[in-house]
Amino acid sequence: MAYENIRREDRNGITFVTVTRPDKLNALNDATIGELQHCFEALAADDAVHAVILTGSGEKAFVAGADIGELARQTPLQARPLALRGQKLMNTVESCPKPVIAAVNGYAFGGGCELALACHFRTASENAVMGLPEVTLGIIPGYGGTQRLPRIVGKGRAMELILTAGRVDAKEAHRIGLVNKVFPQAELLAQTEALVRKILGHAPVAVRFALDAINHGGEMPLHDGLNYEATFFGLLAATDDLKEGMSAFLQKRPAQFTGK
Ligand code: COA
Repeated sequence: MAYENIRREDRNGITFVTVTRPDKLNALNDATIGELQHCFEALAADDAVHAVILTGSGEKAFVAGADIGELARQTPLQARPLALRGQKLMNTVESCPKPVIAAVNGYAFGGGCELALACHFRTASENAVMGLPEVTLGIIPGYGGTQRLPRIVGKGRAMELILTAGRVDAKEAHRIGLVNKVFPQAELLAQTEALVRKILGHAPVAVRFALDAINHGGEMPLHDGLNYEATFFGLLAATDDLKEGMSAFLQKRPAQFTGK
């Protein structure tokens, strides 16, 4: 599939996905959602891809939201499938078996904030501003924001942000745990890549299982989540990488993981 609204670049195991509608501050129109859906399905299935960094083009915006021009035209019958289509994309991003990091390089509002929330964690540039301003438009967050924001920043903060349509700058986003790191804009992608390369230096199967245990186990009752964790822990005992990681530690040398 040829993309018109996003760009995919593969660099040594890390795929950079960039939303490329800078004149509309990378707003998610229907076509962009379709392309991202296709792209993330392909990335999940591509063995050459070990991690993904998602960002927006230009210096102003990550993604300024769902496309309000399109939202304004929706009928009641179209609105629910539209929300489900956006939610499907966010679920696909979140359940990607490889780490997906949002590099929030500017405005991340509405659907853009929800896209960042679906990623496994977020870095931001100093000029980033994030928020869910849907109630100012007569709607509510419909791409997962009411569910994922409280899970990340806590119920009280999410209530306040969504009900007041509050906007947080990068410093505040960092303070409340909405983003993990803040970098000067010129360094955002390089520093995020460095963070991701650190992940890729660790035992690949262990990284995959840890991601799965946090992602899926975290949605289970504690007892079931702990069982899920223990099952992965047991499976890892069968890997060459466990033997290599422990031998390397005992022999005081760097580990050479093979992903087996
Ligand atoms: N949907 C569609 N178009 C959008 C958009 C969105 N969510 N956000 C920005 N754009 C468009 C603007 O309409 C404008 O297009 P135009 O040049 O054809 O008029 C272009 O992007 C630039 O935006 P502009 O508002 O001129 O930039 P700004 O720097 O003055 O303001 C924002 C930036 C992000 C504060 C402002 O664009 C904004 O509030 N956007 C909507 C955010 C929002 O409510 N998102 C949630 C949607 S559910």
